[in-house]
Amino acid sequence: MANIKDVAELAGVSITTVSHVINQTRYVSDELTQRVYDAMEELNYHPNTLARSLRSGRTKTIGLLIPDISNFFFAEISRKIEDRGFDRGYSVVLCNTDDNSKKEQIYINLLLEKQVDGIIFISSGDSKTSLSKPINLGIPIVVADRDVANIHSDIVLLDNFKAGYDATKYLLALNHTRIGCISGPSLLTPSAQRVEGYRQALRESGIKVDEELIQMGDFRFSGGEEAMCNILAISDQPTAVFVCNDMMALGANKAINDSGKKVPEDYSLIGFDNIPLSKSFYPALTTMSQPIQKMAELTIDLLLEKIDLKLKRKRDSKQPLEYQRIILKAELIERDSCKVIKK
Ligand code: RIB
Repeated sequence: MANIKDVAELAGVSITTVSHVINQTRYVSDELTQRVYDAMEELNYHPNTLARSLRSGRTKTIGLLIPDISNFFFAEISRKIEDRGFDRGYSVVLCNTDDNSKKEQIYINLLLEKQVDGIIFISSGDSKTSLSKPINLGIPIVVADRDVANIHSDIVLLDNFKAGYDATKYLLALNHTRIGCISGPSLLTPSAQRVEGYRQALRESGIKVDEELIQMGDFRFSGGEEAMCNILAISDQPTAVFVCNDMMALGANKAINDSGKKVPEDYSLIGFDNIPLSKSFYPALTTMSQPIQKMAELTIDLLLEKIDLKLKRKRDSKQPLEYQRIILKAELIERDSCKVIKK
């Protein structure tokens, strides 16, 4: 069976160069890199990843837990996290927890068994999940998108309150005064904070919050459709609805059309997330855009910093260990699903 020395000879490079190409530990020109890959293929050489990770103390693998891969927001952020991780020499193992804390816990244990170097955690929303095991084992974790209380880790979130407030202020500026709201699962911090921003914007405009106009969805298309049907059954109809994510806004749009009404002629709709589908839907959805690319880059970069720091602290425990709590801003993307009405 070929070894690294055979690969180096066939490629006409040093063993050190072959090692740098395999471990991406130093820049190697495209030409030499290709020669090494060609030699590895010709000799059917596969580096011993176990031996490598024992030597380096890393598996160059990251675990990513997300609640629902069928939601375009999570599909998009997973892709961008994987892109960023790959660019920085790491494989990303995607775990879809289906909003289920039991499955979430199983995946956390699996990732520990696989000796991942770190974990990016987007919570299923059920506080029963415990991150104590990876924390106690000193496995670096970055919490993203959904806050987790009392945890020693970097956290990257969105200012959901301000985003919900801005979405509602936008509708108020279009002269809407009777505004509905379709929330996500109320236990989830992002949704609860967006609804609080909605309430605050109404209060500041002297508009009494009508609890009947706030309907809870589940962040899914069907939940948005069902919540909108509940709003459509109310006698005093709103003229606009703030929906706490785009998947539900698309479902709400269907419910409005099925009732014989139209967006934005009869109802203005504003969504949240700015998933790729939102611009190609009819009418193109006005939405609060999440900085998904920035969130993905920050989670990977913060995690890799902590992975490196963990190895440095093994040599020098005095290396400072500090955590960041980064709050990003949403941006209003105005399209065709909202209209101004006469006062
Ligand atoms: O669409 C899913 C929602 O849940 C997003 O708004 C995101 O913030 C996540 O928490």
